[in-house]
Amino acid sequence: MLFKSLVRHCATIYQRRFNHRSHPRILITGGCGQLGVPLAKRLRELYGRESVVLSDIVRPSDELLEQGIYRYADVLDLKQVQELLVNNQIDWLIHLSALLSAVGERDVPLAMKLNIEGTHNILELARKYKCRLFIPSTIGAFGPDSPRNPTPDFCIQRPRTIYGVSKVHAELLGEYFHHRYGVDFRCLRFPGIISADTKPGGGTTDYAIEIFHEALKTGSYKCYLRGDTRLPMMWIDDCIQSIVSIMETPSNQLKQRTYNVSAMSFTPDELAKAIQKYKPKFRISSEPDDRQKIADSWPEVFDDHNAREHWNWNPKVDLDGLVQRMFAYLEKQ
Ligand code: SER
Repeated sequence: MLFKSLVRHCATIYQRRFNHRSHPRILITGGCGQLGVPLAKRLRELYGRESVVLSDIVRPSDELLEQGIYRYADVLDLKQVQELLVNNQIDWLIHLSALLSAVGERDVPLAMKLNIEGTHNILELARKYKCRLFIPSTIGAFGPDSPRNPTPDFCIQRPRTIYGVSKVHAELLGEYFHHRYGVDFRCLRFPGIISADTKPGGGTTDYAIEIFHEALKTGSYKCYLRGDTRLPMMWIDDCIQSIVSIMETPSNQLKQRTYNVSAMSFTPDELAKAIQKYKPKFRISSEPDDRQKIADSWPEVFDDHNAREHWNWNPKVDLDGLVQRMFAYLEKQ
């Protein structure tokens, strides 16, 4: 009896935020990038077309405009995001705006502005309007002093890129806002995300996407990482599912606010071998550049057992599945 009423009480608390409607209303910042477009598509399938506001500072394609609500929003302009949040009665904030590792090193002041100041604005809005907040973190939040194989959720984090530093900052500040103000902050550390129809914005793991385009175009690929550089990776659909899953998990089920998530780990040579099953003549060579140093400081294998235990994280796609999906999509084009 007591247990039943406790369950009812918890369900009421969980539902309270959306008591005037059955689905959350969601604002995605930095939404025109690799993750935002497929994430908006999935969330609209789940919660309805009108439930998701996609925002960014770039001009959207006609196709994107047809998919649902799109609004201009610069995360450096707090008032502008605030207006969007209020006018659209936003419940969930998904903050994707960020410069990735390689481009961040090329423009450190911009990376500091966007990745750090932008995050401050979003945290403040999540606090003020009691939004559930998701901010992605990364394998780049670790550094040369972290254990690399495997890398657990909790260990030393001393990243050497501005991208990594800004993401550790977001993790810590998000957790602080959770403990201090009760902000329902959720954060996943992603590996390299592989997708066919949307492109990443200048990361160290991008080779694992470029390689497919070159395999089809020229039959060979010169990689900017050494052939034996092992990094954790994930197919885009698994990444999107991980965001949906953690956002849907009741707050009291989360035993921590920041989780590693992973699906597979491979080297450029191993990826080339998997590609050769489809394109036997494909050849890979390597000419390492400044990204090699970044990759050498990152996890080789990500330990994500807490995500698997606490909220049933369970990726579906392995290396062969990823290669098959990439070719299926790119060859259709
Ligand atoms: N894909 C990202 C990068 O390489 C890692 O989070 O920067």
